[in-house]
Amino acid sequence: MDIDARLAPAEDSLRQLLADEGPGGYDFAFIDADKRAYGKYFELCLQLVRQGGLIAVDNVLWYGKVADSQVDDKATVALREFNAAVLADPRVTLSIVPVGDGMALCRKR
Ligand SMILES: C[S@@+](CC[C@H](N)C(=O)[O-])C[C@H]1O[C@@H](n2cnc3c(N)ncnc32)[C@H](O)[C@@H]1O
Repeated sequence: MDIDARLAPAEDSLRQLLADEGPGGYDFAFIDADKRAYGKYFELCLQLVRQGGLIAVDNVLWYGKVADSQVDDKATVALREFNAAVLADPRVTLSIVPVGDGMALCRKR
């Protein structure tokens, strides 16, 4: 197995993969970077993975802060909005697994 490491802003790398390889070529994507950009990464990964492919998204429970109405820092608010958007997204089925601080498993329909 080859590993192709790209040291660059993740959005640029994902856009480059799409430009170079087109959509639907991947079985699996794992999102685990800056929380406020999760929505952008999700949209790009959704194009990159095939129908039936999986996008795993780390930290979606954010140490429980997403469920604490007293917490409103930018990362927490962004993750709350991300979770709500993915739950309502008809393009995927969603399970959130409560391991660590929450892993969303999004299967592309
Ligand atoms: C929680 S760590 C990821 C750990 C990795 N998934 C692992 O299991 O070893 C988050 C990483 O995302 C990187 N990161 C943050 N913002 C980024 C961005 N905009 N583009 C690319 N990488 C970013 C950070 O430098 C950090 O290495």
